[in-house]
Amino acid sequence: MSFSSLLPRSLTLPSPSPRSLPPSHFLHSSTLHSKSKLNNLKSLSLSLSRSNSKPSYLPIHCSTSSSSQTQPSSSSTSFPTKPPHQVTVLITGATGYIGRVVVRELVKRGHRVVAVARERSGIRGRDSRDDTLRCLSGATVCFSDVTDPDSLSRDLASLAVAGISHIDAAVCCLASRNGGIKDSWNIDYEATKNTLTAARQNGANHFVLLSAICVQKPLLEFQRAKLKFEAELQATSEADPSFTYSIVRPTAFFKSLGGQVEIVKDGKPYVMFGDGKLCACKPISEEDLASFIADCVMDEDKSCKILPIGGPGKALTPLEQGQLLFQILGKEPKFLKVPIEIMDFAIGIFDFLAKIFPGLEDAAEFGRIGRYYAAESMLVWDPATGEYSADKTPSYGKDTLEDFFAKVIRQGMAGQELGEQTIF
Ligand SMILES: NC(=O)c1ccc[n+]([C@@H]2O[C@H](COP(=O)([O-])OP(=O)(O)OC[C@H]3O[C@@H](n4cnc5c(N)ncnc54)[C@H](OP(=O)(O)O)[C@@H]3O)[C@@H](O)[C@H]2O)c1
Repeated sequence: MSFSSLLPRSLTLPSPSPRSLPPSHFLHSSTLHSKSKLNNLKSLSLSLSRSNSKPSYLPIHCSTSSSSQTQPSSSSTSFPTKPPHQVTVLITGATGYIGRVVVRELVKRGHRVVAVARERSGIRGRDSRDDTLRCLSGATVCFSDVTDPDSLSRDLASLAVAGISHIDAAVCCLASRNGGIKDSWNIDYEATKNTLTAARQNGANHFVLLSAICVQKPLLEFQRAKLKFEAELQATSEADPSFTYSIVRPTAFFKSLGGQVEIVKDGKPYVMFGDGKLCACKPISEEDLASFIADCVMDEDKSCKILPIGGPGKALTPLEQGQLLFQILGKEPKFLKVPIEIMDFAIGIFDFLAKIFPGLEDAAEFGRIGRYYAAESMLVWDPATGEYSADKTPSYGKDTLEDFFAKVIRQGMAGQELGEQTIF
């Protein structure tokens, strides 16, 4: 049994060098790569679609205010120099909750989008190839395997037949679908690295990474995997001044906070850990985050930076989210407070059992993930105060949690499903 199944859904995530040369990923005209060989046509799998205590640790790799978080970009040239429709953007993780909206946004902005997808995509592979083509309409879909660098390289080279022989920038929205230990390293690190390698092989000089704000305080394997890649991405840029990156670290997604809407609507109490004030977040919608990520493709100001980002409005604790929900529903607030120690107890049991039965390792990890999101804020960590800071967490976009709750009350959670272990 997964520990995460014990958790109410809304409690499983937070309700809580300077460049010496100008970024140049748009300064090149398309470079035809020798890899783009016609003899790859047979293996072409391309489809065109036009249709409360103060911890002692500090954040890693960066300082923590939006202004000091980042390294200055010293470029004095315009960035980019090509119009959007001449900019080809590769995206992996294109079929995810965020990735699919990023594809839509990039297409809307006029970019040429190459979206990498699996033959069976979506949660538990429920989407067919045709579903994927429909979902990624407007993009050139390259069916490939991001976990296999050779396949990815070969399949991207095959795109030459569709006139795509050069990539300007890459966006990676890959993420483990279950948060398990091995899968996290396979996807959040290895497959993400494969994306970088393949993108660079095809000429990309800018890489936008969807990371997570929680990597500031890495206690979980998926966070360590993401951090390892972040460090390598930055090192790549340090070594090659013509290569730039944007690391996007968002706070909580709406999907992670909507799990109790229908329960509360049905008259049940809103469940929260402790007094409901153990953590806070600035939730961001998938549309707003996708827009921010798309900005990173063209906006020089977002180059070579780690970018924590939240949605509009103030930071909300689980208690405040619950109160908001009752207010929208016009119901008398009713809360069920669960001691956080219950989670520690359960994690302890799974940890013990995992020593005897290694197969239970992931169950213990899922418990730790749930515990983390129940108690850690998804806000920028301020080393000066030793606390999370809502003020230092930048806001972006216009979609509010209030509007989201109202929509879920009307329409349900369709399109907002969590992943395989219902923790992401
Ligand atoms: N949930 C939150 O509140 C929150 C907050 C901040 C940051 N984040 C971070 O945001 C990131 C993305 O989240 P999301 O919700 O968009 O993720 P998601 O919906 O789970 O999508 C994951 C993407 O990665 C792909 N992928 C996973 N395993 C793969 C494999 N073995 N081979 C090929 N592709 C694979 C999936 O492809 P398929 O469709 O083929 O499976 C999908 O496109 C995560 O890193 C998470 O840590 C989440």
